[in-house]
Amino acid sequence: MADARTTPAPPAITHRSDYAPPSWLVPEVALDFALDPAATRVKARLAVTRNGAHDTPLRLDGAGQVPLAVSVDGATVNDWRIEGEQLVIPLTGNAHVVETEVEIAPDRNTQLMGLYASGGNLCTQCEAEGFRRITWFPDRPDVLATYRVRMSADKVRFPVLLANGDPVAAGDDDDGTHWAEWHDPWPKPSYLFALVAGDLAVNRDTFTTRSGREVALGIWVRAGDVPKTDHALTALKLSMAWDERVYGREYDLDVFNIVAVDDFNFGAMENKGLNIFNSRYILADPDTATDYDYDAIAAVVAHEYFHNWSGNRITCRDWFQLSLKEGFTVYRDQGFSADQGSAAVKRIEDVRGLRAAQFPEDAGPLAHPVRPESYIEISNFYTATIYNKGAELIRMMATMLGPQRFRAATDLYFERFDGTAATCEDFVACMEEAGGIDLSQFRLWYSQAGTPRVSATLAHEPGSGRATLNLAQKVPETPGQSDKQPQVLPLRVRLFGGETGQPLGEEQLVILSDASASVTFETVTERPVVSLNRGFSAPVIVESDRSAEDLAFLARHDDDAFARYEAMQQLMLDTLIAATIEGEADTRAVVAAVADTLDDPALDRAFVAEAVLLPSENFIGDQLSVVDPEAIFRAREGLRRTLGRTLEPQWRAACDIALRRPYAYTPEDKGIRRLRNVALGYVSASGTPDAAALAWAQFEAADNMTDRQGALTTLASGHAPERDAALDVFYNRYADNPLVLDKWFQTQALSSRDDTPVLVAELAQHPDFTLANPNRARALVGAFAVNQRAFHAAGGAGYRWLTDQLLALDRLNPQTSARLLPPLGRWRRFDPIRAEAMRAELERIVATAGISKDLFEQASKSLK
Ligand code: ARG
Ligand code: ZN
Repeated sequence: MADARTTPAPPAITHRSDYAPPSWLVPEVALDFALDPAATRVKARLAVTRNGAHDTPLRLDGAGQVPLAVSVDGATVNDWRIEGEQLVIPLTGNAHVVETEVEIAPDRNTQLMGLYASGGNLCTQCEAEGFRRITWFPDRPDVLATYRVRMSADKVRFPVLLANGDPVAAGDDDDGTHWAEWHDPWPKPSYLFALVAGDLAVNRDTFTTRSGREVALGIWVRAGDVPKTDHALTALKLSMAWDERVYGREYDLDVFNIVAVDDFNFGAMENKGLNIFNSRYILADPDTATDYDYDAIAAVVAHEYFHNWSGNRITCRDWFQLSLKEGFTVYRDQGFSADQGSAAVKRIEDVRGLRAAQFPEDAGPLAHPVRPESYIEISNFYTATIYNKGAELIRMMATMLGPQRFRAATDLYFERFDGTAATCEDFVACMEEAGGIDLSQFRLWYSQAGTPRVSATLAHEPGSGRATLNLAQKVPETPGQSDKQPQVLPLRVRLFGGETGQPLGEEQLVILSDASASVTFETVTERPVVSLNRGFSAPVIVESDRSAEDLAFLARHDDDAFARYEAMQQLMLDTLIAATIEGEADTRAVVAAVADTLDDPALDRAFVAEAVLLPSENFIGDQLSVVDPEAIFRAREGLRRTLGRTLEPQWRAACDIALRRPYAYTPEDKGIRRLRNVALGYVSASGTPDAAALAWAQFEAADNMTDRQGALTTLASGHAPERDAALDVFYNRYADNPLVLDKWFQTQALSSRDDTPVLVAELAQHPDFTLANPNRARALVGAFAVNQRAFHAAGGAGYRWLTDQLLALDRLNPQTSARLLPPLGRWRRFDPIRAEAMRAELERIVATAGISKDLFEQASKSLK
């Protein structure tokens, strides 16, 4: 007999190898919603067909609903049973109509999965397993059905009723309710189901596809927010045209709607014909959104739109194949963004993001392959590895195939798997077939976790004119995976002459597939410097023996913009690591390289802004076997001060340019603003007495959020009276704008002040702070946990505070709580005192009764 103190059974693990096709298919579904925030009735009518010869009953998934009735072929039945979270119905024939009715309570749904309330409206989020919280259904991506949806709701509270597909009919009832019917002709998995009911206003437009179909576009938001949707609407039309031009993909319904909601676990969701977005990825105007926000909005709008083909027309067979749609779609949205502005700057941003999120994941306890082998909770696998490393895999295949063959391969993929639920293997097989190359070994990228490390040395014999590049690779151990095989690494390589700066020969694509290999270059008469992994052609860590002089040389002469940035970063990183370990370092090469970059008029300002930015404290920490947060901070601040002082006139000049230009959202002006805010940071780091006054002047004069937040960020890390003044002005000006208040919280959580841990704990008591809104929770809790020095401040208060927040949040919203845990899992990288304190908090989480399987999985794996 179990008693109250018995440890509950550990949550079940789902294994990729256990995949079996569904025993019952559901070609058609009709849903009828009587919508009410407190008690929504859902009737489902499923046409089911037996899939193959077997005698297993129909099993439908369900979670958290009240079952009311079950009938088969029109007659109420009683021989159904509930097993765990499944409704089991015995069926005798090969085709039946199964009807169920349940009741759910959207206004008590704090998990934000299934049907929930946000800002007085009702909306859904079903990926990955939210549909089962709405009605009984085989809630797995390989069961494709056409959906007919009827909704009725109070006409005053919910004047707008939207669902997937096309509107079919609508009308009023005489009890104050109205109804609408929608039909989606495209078979889809349940995770793509969506409905929205609410008091919403719309920004409408149309798009004519290349075959002449006119699509009605609509972005639905709170009435006052309509003026903030133009940028998203423009991005949507650009995405639709881009997908036709670049991938030959045309939209396939007469309607495409987007709805923005304030409470959302992720960025956005690609529901067929009815995308639902976190409002932060829709709403923008110059006064409230930064250039970064504008770029992110266009990227996410494009991402969700592109899913219509890479995700919806071709979906995933099972959730282990998630990167099939996410990796490919990220790759596609990265290509779209690259085409809108500077491709080099976009690549730099994407690599910085990969290094900030995916490399640490791959090096830590939560490392998993792009195609995982098992999970406890699939929501925990919407990771940087699945998304961003997944995109890098597609990029490597595209590099090896070249543009024409890559396009032929994606054409083949779209053609062959349209209308099906496919696998990563299906995609790779198309690359192989249309690309005419053997990808057997390349497939290891899908199954082996860990970031490969490549060591590179270049030897030159001046007499014979021969240069030899010696390469070796090692894929590190990761949890559950020791002995790794060498992977296929496509490395773009070019040599430059160390004296003249001239390229020595063409760029080469070196495919390193063995543990080690040598590449020889002939007729190299000058001392060569190697530019390696140009464009970040493989997502690896390169260790080379290039000297500071060689790196500075590449930072000046390389003709690949990414490689130029990379050389500069490596130079800075080497300097910062030396300064961290030894307490001081020779900074002359960095200062000279930064000065040259600032002074080069041929360079795009956005590129300059990226190139002169020092690696983050976290990234420096990731390079060290034992992270010393204080030493890293001191080293980095020291170098910032040196750069700030030595180049003060240049930084001041960069600050000045933008002051004299009224706001415009153009690539050129974005670049000027970006450099200006970086420059303001350096002026402030220099310690010059008027730094705060300068930041305050920018804050006051700003006619846009980029400059206003840039100034606020600089002030927030200092102690000048302007700091509190700016925070107050900012707060009062935007008190009723939740997205901007998020910035207010986040800026303070990222501050480098010594008292940040205390201030953050106080902010958690602020009346505007709530864990119930994921954006707000991330803005304070998430930002604090990546503020390396503040989070790891001696004494462990940061760890305890984070854990308290995670446990409180877990009771409301397990998904969002679990996503904020990984910083605690870095414990192995810290000194024994910090490591023990971090572990103790992970133990506390695992020992807490009643935690979600989401949080349990992250915490228990982080302890191993
Ligand atoms: N498919 C969405 C996107 O990448 C993300 C949905 C994530 N939802 C979840 N519950 N894990 O666009
Ligand atoms: Zn996606």
